[in-house]
Amino acid sequence: MESPSNGRGQWGSRIGFIMAAAGSAIGLGNIWRFPYTTGQNGGGAFVLLYLLCTVFIGLAVMWAELAIGRAAQRSPVGAFKALAPGSAWKLVGYLGIITGIGILSYYGVVAGWTVGYLIYSASGSLDTVIPTIHLTDPAVHMESAHASNFFGAFVANSKLQILFLVVFMGLTMVVVLGGVRKGIERLTKILMPLLLVMLVGLIINGMLQPKAMAGLRFYLWPDFDKVTGMTFVYALGQAFFSLSLGMGAMLTYGSYMRKSDNLATSGIYVVIFDTVIALMAGFMIFPILGGAPTSAGPGLVFVVLTQQFQAMPAGNIVAIIFFSLLAIAALTSTVSLLEVVTSFLVDDLKMKRPGAVLLSGTGIALLGIPSALSLGGVKWLSNLYTLDGKGQGFLDLMNFIFGNVLLAVGALGICLFVVLRWKPKNAIEEIATGAPWFRKLRTVWVVALAVLCPLAVLGLLAYMAITGKALG
Ligand code: PHE
Repeated sequence: MESPSNGRGQWGSRIGFIMAAAGSAIGLGNIWRFPYTTGQNGGGAFVLLYLLCTVFIGLAVMWAELAIGRAAQRSPVGAFKALAPGSAWKLVGYLGIITGIGILSYYGVVAGWTVGYLIYSASGSLDTVIPTIHLTDPAVHMESAHASNFFGAFVANSKLQILFLVVFMGLTMVVVLGGVRKGIERLTKILMPLLLVMLVGLIINGMLQPKAMAGLRFYLWPDFDKVTGMTFVYALGQAFFSLSLGMGAMLTYGSYMRKSDNLATSGIYVVIFDTVIALMAGFMIFPILGGAPTSAGPGLVFVVLTQQFQAMPAGNIVAIIFFSLLAIAALTSTVSLLEVVTSFLVDDLKMKRPGAVLLSGTGIALLGIPSALSLGGVKWLSNLYTLDGKGQGFLDLMNFIFGNVLLAVGALGICLFVVLRWKPKNAIEEIATGAPWFRKLRTVWVVALAVLCPLAVLGLLAYMAITGKALG
């Protein structure tokens, strides 16, 4: 980012914006959340719904967020205040801040796993690195082929879970605070293509597995018998989550764009990159599984991949590279989440940046503790309710409420704001300054914002209210 005379940062180039926005979008949502949610929701039909939601709703909301951000040149709450002074629309901004806090609190826990697995791959055992903290079963280590026991023991270890949550939140705070942001963004230019190459390698590895075809069938063949209202709830939520939409992250990134930037095409690029990476993650996992995953919920990717790494030549090196890349992909996402909260504290509550980062980072890390303890560490937190016969813990609940429902509600707020208050005409002019062709899309875009997105989100809420599946 450069610092022009208005004192706000600005992207140095269009590619700078695309890299940062893709950095926010691409993360655990693609590699961790997408495969296991696909697994839990019946495979191909879920993937199809997710793609439809991405193209027909996600992209429209992406443009809306970028346009609001660039027009207002402010972070979420400030943006709604600036474009609709004295109105209640700022609540959409506040909701975004709250949603961001909720998401980051449990996302930090899962991001911590990437660091744990990285240390583990590099050392062969977490016990050698952190000798005072033992996994419950000392016989469990990667070479024992008990990848799933290892995962279970790792996530049930309260001390380790809190330690890695704190480590990851610390890293995020350093990046948001330290102005090493630029460096990270430059780094993503090299690392994202590297991640892509790794995924290709791991997809080839998967395709060579004996049950690859059956796995592909589960992943790609839409079996509509398995579709319920909840499949749709999860697919829509996954589309928003993966694209970082519905809580103001893209709005904030849009606020650093220049008027001459082509916001329309940039948005398309981000959506394409993000979706391709998610689909690739599925191609990496399902051929190995050879069908629906039997047990692994949130552990799916970690378990399946460590098993694979263990079986391949130089697997430890591959594992080290993979988990480093995944950790950095997660970091560029946590940074965008913390940035939204921080910029709110700075812009609206007039805090100083270091204090704002310290307060929000520490607060969110504390809020993450119940999630960190909810994978076996503390029994009642790990088993709050049952879904499809499986116990769901605090992290699952947070993931559902903040990562699905509230993102969808936020996205609805953003759509309605553009349609009812800001007016599509103004939004279209904002986008068209850098992309005149966008005017041709006006009808389709407005239909998506005024009809498709509201119908989808209200349908989701109504379905949950009627079936009582609020805790689904
Ligand atoms: N899109 C990020 C991911 O897929 C997560 C995220 C959600 C980031 C919402 C910012 C806002 O990992």
